[in-house]
Amino acid sequence: MKVRAILLGLVAAGLTATAAAADPIVIKFSHVVATDTPKGKAAVKFKELAEQYTNGAVKVEVYANSTLYKDKEEMEALQLGAVQLLAPSLAKFGPLGVREFEVFDLPYIFNGQEALNKITTGPVGAQLLSKLEPKGIKGLAYWDNGFKSFSANTPILKPEDLRGKKMRIQSSKVLEEQMREIKALPQVMAFSEVYQALQTGVVDGTENPHSNLYTQKMHEVQKHMTLTEHGYLGYAVITNKKFWDGLPADVRTQLDKAMKESTVYANQIAKEENDKALAAVKASGKTAVHEPTEAERAAFIKALVPVHKKMESRVGADLIQSIYKETGFDPSKL
Ligand code: LMR
Repeated sequence: MKVRAILLGLVAAGLTATAAAADPIVIKFSHVVATDTPKGKAAVKFKELAEQYTNGAVKVEVYANSTLYKDKEEMEALQLGAVQLLAPSLAKFGPLGVREFEVFDLPYIFNGQEALNKITTGPVGAQLLSKLEPKGIKGLAYWDNGFKSFSANTPILKPEDLRGKKMRIQSSKVLEEQMREIKALPQVMAFSEVYQALQTGVVDGTENPHSNLYTQKMHEVQKHMTLTEHGYLGYAVITNKKFWDGLPADVRTQLDKAMKESTVYANQIAKEENDKALAAVKASGKTAVHEPTEAERAAFIKALVPVHKKMESRVGADLIQSIYKETGFDPSKL
C-alpha cells in the first residue's frame, strides 16, 4: 500500500514536471488606460506577436484599465515580480526615484512630434532608460500617446482662466510646478479616479491627450477644452530586469522582436487614435473644443516656459540643455 502510494506520488510528480515543462511562460502586462487607446492597442499587438513568435511558449495576459493595479501599485508590483510588463507614463517615474523622466513634462519643450522623436529614438532617450537599471527595471521602448490639452468646466482662453482651479495631474513635480506657475491648484491623483473626481467636483479640470479624455468619458464631465497641446504624454515600456534577463535566450530574442514591432505600431497609430478621439469629443457636443489663436497660444507659452528654469534642479540643467540642443528649442527666442 505504502509502495503503491509512493509510486502514485512519483507518477503524479512526474506528470506535474512534464506539465510544467509544457506550461507557457506567463507575462502579465498591466496598464491603466482603456483598450481602445494607443497604449491599449499596442499592448494587445505585443501579446499577439509575442505569442506567435514564441509558438505559444509565452502567454501574455493584458490587464487594461487599472483592473490589476493602479498607478502607484503597478510600479511596486513590477519590482516585486508580481507583474512583468508595464507602460507607465513618463510622468510617473519620480516616485521610483528616477526624476529625470519628468523632463518630458516640461511645458512646450517639444515643438511637435518630430522634436519629440529625436529624443525618444536618440541617445538622450537611451540614456534615460538606462537609469532604470539600478532600480531592477529594464526599459524596453518608448510608446507615444500625444500632446495634452487643458479641460475644465469654464472656458480656457488664457492662462489666468485656470487660476484657483483644482487641476488633476499625474505624480510629477514638473506638472505640479506647471500648475503653480499659472496659479492653479495641482492635485495628484491616480488615473482610475479622475472621472469620478471630475464628476463630483473634487477637481475642476485636468490635462489629457484626447484619447485618454475620450475613452475615460471625461468629456461628459468637462464642458470646455482648449487645444493648448502644452505638454507631451508618452510611455516607457518596462520590465523586471531579473525576469527579462532570466528568460531563455531564444525566447527573449523573439520577445525583443515582438516589442520592436509593437513599438512601430504604437507610434504609428498614436496620432490617428488621438485625432479620432478629438473628432468623437466634438461630435458628442458635450465639451466645447476651442482652438487657440496664435496670440492665445503665445500667451500660454510665455506663461509656462519659465517652468523649465525652475525645474532645473529637479530634472537636471544639462539634460534640459541636451534636449534644447537636439530639438532646436531656444527659450531666449520667445
Ligand atoms: C494619466 O494618469 O493621466 C496617464 O498617465 C494615463 C496613461 O497611462 O496614459
